[in-house]
Amino acid sequence: MSTTTEPTQGFTDVEDTRAQLAACGYLADDRLATTVFLQTRLEKPVLLEGPAGVGKTQLAESLATATGRRLIRLQCYEGQDETKALYEWDYGKQLLYTQILREKIGQVVEDAADLNEAVERIAKQDSVFFSQRFLAARPLLEAIDSDTPVVLLIDEVDRADEALEAVLLELLAEFQISIPEVGTITAKTMPYVVLTSNNTRDLSAALKRRCLHLFLDYPDAVRELEIIRSKETGLADSLAARLVDIVRGIRELELRKAPSISETVDWARTLAVLGVEELTADVLSTTLNVVVKYERDLKRVMDALPRLVDPNAEVPDHLHGHGHGHGHGHGHSHAPAAEDRVEDDVDGRAERKAKDQPGRHNAGYYGGAGGTGPRTAPAVSTSQGTRAFPSTRKRPV
Ligand SMILES: Nc1ncnc2c1ncn2[C@@H]1O[C@H](COP(=O)(O)OP(=O)(O)OP(=O)(O)O)[C@@H](O)[C@H]1O
Ligand SMILES: [Mg+2]
Repeated sequence: MSTTTEPTQGFTDVEDTRAQLAACGYLADDRLATTVFLQTRLEKPVLLEGPAGVGKTQLAESLATATGRRLIRLQCYEGQDETKALYEWDYGKQLLYTQILREKIGQVVEDAADLNEAVERIAKQDSVFFSQRFLAARPLLEAIDSDTPVVLLIDEVDRADEALEAVLLELLAEFQISIPEVGTITAKTMPYVVLTSNNTRDLSAALKRRCLHLFLDYPDAVRELEIIRSKETGLADSLAARLVDIVRGIRELELRKAPSISETVDWARTLAVLGVEELTADVLSTTLNVVVKYERDLKRVMDALPRLVDPNAEVPDHLHGHGHGHGHGHGHSHAPAAEDRVEDDVDGRAERKAKDQPGRHNAGYYGGAGGTGPRTAPAVSTSQGTRAFPSTRKRPV
């Protein structure tokens, strides 16, 4: 792979990476800053996996701001095919041109002896209508074909079908796209590629191998407090620090959806607007809907709040044992029903432990759409994933 242009602004080292991201409002820890610095030096995509709201998407946006690059975003979803990711022929434009050029086209076939000859003559003009002029670039082609360096965000790649993942594999390996009618388009400038995943399904080892992989988890208390402060929520520092501790306690409960950083920020703002001066269980429970989005979770957090606010508070018996983040199947007398267990694991604690076991995922993982049954791979047509790449090219494994 070769590039013709250097990035507009590079990072000099890890510390500089952290500082430049911080100047754009993104507070990265050591591992993340190192990964980002390496990505800019090694020209490798970064794959960020982790629960919702830990700053995966925001990283790509901040990286674009920090480096002065344009952000091109491919939002992945189920059923998406290459025409929405790579390119498609602009049929409307082709039609319009043929209408306008009707007379000229008429002249081409005017003296043709028969229909066969007329078709032959028109066929010779194919390259006019299947040229780059009539190509509608979608995000991946747009990033490869951009004259200026870009940040390419491939967001929620786990939601895309495996066929699209195969297309990405080729793209990320060679930074080029082959269009049968046009030829191969190679990256003019190397994009910084950020892929994000919420782990609703396993990504292929081949994809992971091509990327610098980072599991982005909830930040530690110090960094989360820094993030809250940086958002200028209006909540006093001492209260914000208490709030962070309480949110961290809530994350330890086995909830369907644990509160994310953005929900901590929202909660801080809410409490500031209400002019709260002390974090009591009462005031927190009246504003709990800002951070807890499921009825059953609400009940669990309500029950646990007195203990979270004051560790010496009396805790109802049935809540013991939910504060230390272990999985299920531990033989407690209150073990939930099978159906409940699937829901309980939506936040992914047990799933993360089983991360390398293929086929372990379910549709509800990290709040994925659908029911609670196992996710079946959607049908993929044999033509999917081959369109932009010549079949002769060796597919990376
Ligand atoms: N390290 C950080 N520094 C500053 N802000 C952060 C950081 N991490 C998260 N945030 C804030 O948290 C919010 C959620 O982040 P973001 O949308 O990037 O999460 P995500 O991991 O992409 O979530 P999802 O999986 O739901 O898309 C954003 O508003 C962002 O500003
Ligand atoms: Mg996101």
